[in-house]
Amino acid sequence: MSTLIGSELSQFALDVAAGFSTAGGKRIAPRYFYDDLGSALFEAITLLPEYGLTRADERLLRIHADEIAQGAGKLGTVAELGSGNGKKTLPILRAVLQMNPQITYQPIDVSAAALAVCEREIGSLCEMKPVLNDWMQGMSEIGRKREENLPLLLLFFGSSVGNLDRTEIPDFFRDLRSHLRPGDFFLLGADLVKDIDTMIAAYDDPTGVTAAFNFNVLGRMNRELQANFDLRAFAHEVRWNSEARRIEMHLLSCRDQDVFIGALDRAYHLEPGETIWTESSHKFSEEELREYARLSGFASVATWVDEEWPFAEALWRATE
Ligand SMILES: C[S@@+](CC[C@H](N)C(=O)[O-])C[C@H]1O[C@@H](n2cnc3c(N)ncnc32)[C@H](O)[C@@H]1O
Repeated sequence: MSTLIGSELSQFALDVAAGFSTAGGKRIAPRYFYDDLGSALFEAITLLPEYGLTRADERLLRIHADEIAQGAGKLGTVAELGSGNGKKTLPILRAVLQMNPQITYQPIDVSAAALAVCEREIGSLCEMKPVLNDWMQGMSEIGRKREENLPLLLLFFGSSVGNLDRTEIPDFFRDLRSHLRPGDFFLLGADLVKDIDTMIAAYDDPTGVTAAFNFNVLGRMNRELQANFDLRAFAHEVRWNSEARRIEMHLLSCRDQDVFIGALDRAYHLEPGETIWTESSHKFSEEELREYARLSGFASVATWVDEEWPFAEALWRATE
């Protein structure tokens, strides 16, 4: 475990160096939100009245768990991308276990803290093999080491796919498909486009929890990359980009400032009003999700949409 964390650290430094040198402005990948403090702050976000995504995702999974398990049928493995604490997964696993008492559950997450909580929540239900890795590398590892012939059900909840650029999404699904076999299943939770004020409030709550989650990535750079960001010199900024149909989260520099990142031995200048783009959350339509399935080697089996908060749970089957 310590080797992985060591290599994750240097990868963090490399990714920050690349993200701070892009022509379109400074960026940090959202995976770096999730150190121990960031994972705890995300847990708090899911409790916010403004953040309807998690409750919608949970409702759909609770209500349709049996249909989903029956749709998938006989399974050998349930894998999950970015499991977090695994709370959402429980109803699906319980339903799947009724038909498949021998399944192995393999959560993949970059956060050791999230995997530890997930193991506490789920470890007593079934055999569990956590994978501390990035989504795709974790999936590739699971695909390579798979021995049994029974199908696999891959879970990807929380609309995390919305963090990818829209143009990257079909390739991302195709890459995932390349680690699956025909007859495997993919269950995807994706947030749908809804009214703009509701979408903005979900990422800009008046309590300031999402702002704290955003600022924490600067704190993480101070702690792990020996940077000297003054967190009070930044503002949390949330925008709806109507053309790209996404919420963007930024950290806006409130003044002219120079920041030194010790791990890179380099200073960076920020103009007043300049931003560090920390997250995109793309919003989808049901038709768009079906089109992604078609483009990436899956057949759409069923889609369920929450009645309170437009959010879709889509079950796909990997085709030949
Ligand atoms: C927004 S949370 C979602 C958690 C849970 N699936 C849910 O729906 O509530 C994202 C989770 O994915 C993990 N994560 C983010 N980016 C990742 C990546 N590129 N590879 C693996 N895990 C990632 C985070 O550590 C976090 O636990």
